[in-house]
Parts: sequence; C-alpha cells; structure tokens
Amino acid sequence: MTTTIPRDQWYVAAYGSEIGQKLFSRTICGEPILFWRTRAGEVTAMSDRCVHRRFPLSQAPSRLVDDQVICGYHGFTYGSDGNCVFVPGQHRVPRTARLRSYPLAEQDSLIWVFIGDPAKADTSRIPRAPYLASPDYTTVRGMEPLKARYSLLVDNLLDLSHETYLHGGYIGTPEVAATPITTEVDEDAGIVYVSRHMDDAECPPFYAKSTGLRGRIARWQDIEYPPPCLYKLHSRIAAPGSVPRPDGSDPDAFHVEVVYAITPETEHTTHDFWAVARDFALGDDEVSEFLAENNRTVVLQDVVALDVLEKVIASEAEGYQELSINIDTGGLAARRMLQRMVAP
Ligand code: FES
Ligand SMILES: [Fe+2]
Repeated sequence: MTTTIPRDQWYVAAYGSEIGQKLFSRTICGEPILFWRTRAGEVTAMSDRCVHRRFPLSQAPSRLVDDQVICGYHGFTYGSDGNCVFVPGQHRVPRTARLRSYPLAEQDSLIWVFIGDPAKADTSRIPRAPYLASPDYTTVRGMEPLKARYSLLVDNLLDLSHETYLHGGYIGTPEVAATPITTEVDEDAGIVYVSRHMDDAECPPFYAKSTGLRGRIARWQDIEYPPPCLYKLHSRIAAPGSVPRPDGSDPDAFHVEVVYAITPETEHTTHDFWAVARDFALGDDEVSEFLAENNRTVVLQDVVALDVLEKVIASEAEGYQELSINIDTGGLAARRMLQRMVAP
C-alpha cells in the first residue's frame, strides 16, 4: 500500500505532562514508540519492541529501573540511548543489540518526535505554539483517538464553515458558514492561512460564557497551518467595531489560541490532540472547566463525523469524485502541500 503519511517530519507524540519516570507507549505513523523520562528529566523515545523476540517494552512485567528498561520476557536491558547493556546467560552483548531511538524535542509543553531519516531532523523546523506554556495564558487540553485517516481531520480543521452545522449550539452560529474566507498560501515557508472575519455575529455559548460578552460580537478566525502536524486557530472576540491598535496591541479583545496536533497513529487512525489557550480569566477554574468540557464535546462531534467518513471511504469503490467549492480552498491547498511532502 502506498503511504499518505509524510515521513521526514516532526510530529507531536504526547504532552510533556504525560511522560514521567514510567514506561509510556504510543504508536506514531505506524511505529510503536516507548517514552520515558530519565531521573535528570530528559524524555527518551525508542522502539517499543525488544530486539530479542520483539516483546513490547511498555508491557508488564517489563519495567524501568534506575534509568534502564528491563524487558519483561527474558531480561534484555537497555539504557536511555537505546543501547543494550545486558543479555541473560552470556557476558558479550551483541553489537547490534540496540533499539532504534528517535530524535526528540520538548517544546511549548509538547513532545515532538521525528519520524523518518534522523539525519534530516532539524529542531529549528518545529513549529511553535508558545502560548501553550506561557504564564500569560491559561490552557486546557486533551487528546481524542480518531478512527479515521489524518487527512480527514486536516480537511475538517481547514474548513470551519462546518461549525454552523456540526457544532450548532456550541461554537457554530449562522455567520460562520455565511461569511466568505480568504486563503493565502506561503509556499516558501510551507504555511496555509485561512481567515474569516465576522464583524457582527451572534456570540456562541463557548465565547459568551467564557468572556462574559453579551449580544453581538466581532469574531475573527485566523488559521495558520504549517503541514503536517500543527494547526493553530487564532480566535479574536471583541465588541463589534473594535479593532486592534495600529501598533498591533489589542487590549479590548479576548484572544483564544486553539491548537490541534494532527498526528497519524496508523494510515487509518489519528491522535487528535487539542488545546485551548486564553489570555483572559487567567487561572479561573470555572472558566477552564467550562472550556475544557465544551471543547471536548465539540471535538467528539468531529470524531463521530470523521469516524463515519472513514468507514464510508473504506467501503466505497475507487474513483469517487468529490465536489469542492470556495470554502474548500484552504483544505485543497493543504492537501497539495501534504502530497508534495509524501512524494516530492
Ligand atoms: S523478548 Fe525481550 S528479552 Fe526476549
Ligand atoms: Fe469541528
């Protein structure tokens, strides 16, 4: 089968808070990867398959002892660099007894791994989302497993007109679908931008309850997507007529940074990481709980729809012709970029 997943790329594998001094496994782009944090606080990423008889090292009775992983089947023991330091019944450790280890970076509260050729792993190419780890924002987050290919989530997030229909009563109002978008593609930087500025819109409960704004609002959605993994929606909520100041500051608006990490688990399943960072009601637990609960509900509405689409696509005959319209411009641009990443 030909893959649709770009290999030589950085992907979000986990939140930093998920990885502690215990064995943690997650499959990324078809590869089972073992994560753990050393006593010095460094996160390691190596193959979750013992080189001996491929027993999963995340599986009990495998265990982590003093920064070494002991396979629960016959006791092969590995250091934090993935090298085997002990095998049972002989002194000589075979030279090839080494787990594949993955380039890794912990940044903006996210754990990134590089899948593909490690020689191409350049940490400066990892996209940033500094608000996720900034004291000037309060963030809620989660991850939902998706039984659908990652490209369906890309389509979904690049076209927010679906909010009106799929998320009515949560984040959708009539103005989202009714307001045209502008799409820009920066080929050199590899970023798709999609913007929708609603200058006089109904305030959906998601923003009414969290900001306290009542009545009509100006609601701006500015999407920034550097494929494949990190999706950022800069959301600006303000009283109608209010605009940012000429110097770029914007003290009269509420800002919500909605971040998704779209990480393929396999060709047909996806890790749907989501985070909502706000620059208001900082540390307010009630607002945090409301946004977390509400956003998770919205994400699950997408999950249900995309899981259905995956089944539909898997069962249909080859050659189905989709019909695309203006709202799809961003999604189509993203698809082209992703295709070039898979087969340059
Ligand atoms: S499978 Fe791990 S030691 Fe045998
Ligand atoms: Fe959605």
